[in-house]
Amino acid sequence: MIQINENYLKLKASYLFSDIAKRVTAYQESNPDKSVIRLGIGDVTHALPEACIRAFHEAVDEMAVDSSFRGYGPEQGYEFLRQAIAKNDFQAHGADINADEIFVSDGAKCDTGNIQEIFDLNCRIAIPDPVYPVYLDTNVMAGRTGSYRNGRYEEIVYLDGNAQNGFIPDLPDHPIDLIYLCFPNNPTGATITKEQLKTWVDYAKKNKTILLYDAAYEAFIRDDTLPHSIYEIEGAREVAIEFRSFSKTAGFTGTRCAYTVIPKSLVAYTAAGDPHSVHSLWNRRHSTKFNGVSYPVQRSAAAIYTDAGKKQVTDLVDGYMANADLIRNAINSMGYSFIGGENSPYIWVATKSDSWSFFDMLLEKTGVVCTPGAGFGTCGEGYIRISAFNTRENVTTAMSRIRQALAT
Ligand code: MLT
Repeated sequence: MIQINENYLKLKASYLFSDIAKRVTAYQESNPDKSVIRLGIGDVTHALPEACIRAFHEAVDEMAVDSSFRGYGPEQGYEFLRQAIAKNDFQAHGADINADEIFVSDGAKCDTGNIQEIFDLNCRIAIPDPVYPVYLDTNVMAGRTGSYRNGRYEEIVYLDGNAQNGFIPDLPDHPIDLIYLCFPNNPTGATITKEQLKTWVDYAKKNKTILLYDAAYEAFIRDDTLPHSIYEIEGAREVAIEFRSFSKTAGFTGTRCAYTVIPKSLVAYTAAGDPHSVHSLWNRRHSTKFNGVSYPVQRSAAAIYTDAGKKQVTDLVDGYMANADLIRNAINSMGYSFIGGENSPYIWVATKSDSWSFFDMLLEKTGVVCTPGAGFGTCGEGYIRISAFNTRENVTTAMSRIRQALAT
């Protein structure tokens, strides 16, 4: 008799954003005349930068001719893209990362979800709350979390974020093997200073911990004093893996391209206590289970690093951040407290009521979709997340509908 992986039965019935999509579809079916504005899932709405489109077209044309056609590429990504990433995203900011420490992939969602496979099933894991659900759910699937009781998995150490600590969790008070961190944070928009991040790096060095650092939203940082990469912190090469994405930076949510950085100096240990290269384990996993991002997509991603590409990406990000300003000002004027939106495309709003009811009320009265904070963990209860990814016009309309609805 074939048996299922029963760890899947410990998961919530559906993925957060699928759950929301179902509710929105039901609303649309019963209100066909109402226009829905989506400020829920962080999905970009503006077209790819022109430099990316141009490179995309050229690469497609290359694929149309035998002499320039390309079949399988290197699983880790083409050298032209890995070099451009290392030079522009790391070396230019004083972070010592080389092209051969970069693994190009089809998304930070996949990478942050898959990375746990190369670590022991019994390792002790700490996950922030609230949190991007992929980190937790993939550990549930793997069987690392124990049972779900009273809103939490028994064997996970939760790092609580709340209004008191500004949604920057305290360091664990005992040794942990694997810690997930995300800054600028999804969902709260909270940011971490270099000094604060250094305390995590020091903790990790002391306890032989690996930090899984999700920096998918670094392009939205406006404050020059904040770190864009964990490798700006001394010692991080020995303790951290970093995840980056072109999805939000350059509008690649539908095009798919991202990367993960694993320094060659990073080690984890065998049961006997012998150090082993994490880079070589991930390389083995990546080349076995993944066959690379398509050539045109990688050419398109590399165009982000040209002079024209950099300018166009900056304009794109600035446009979304102008939306974030608009949302922050509107929420502030309505008397709600919030964080985020200054160095992040997400605004985290205290709802004064339970977050799913607030989500339902907003959808019903205004047709605006947000994300209920409770979907990101128990500490998200009493909050909603509003995303700045939409057109200026839609964000303006959404804020005026919300203002009207909350005034009545
Ligand atoms: C989000 O809304 O949290 C993100 O868009 C989800 C993702 O990047 O997978």
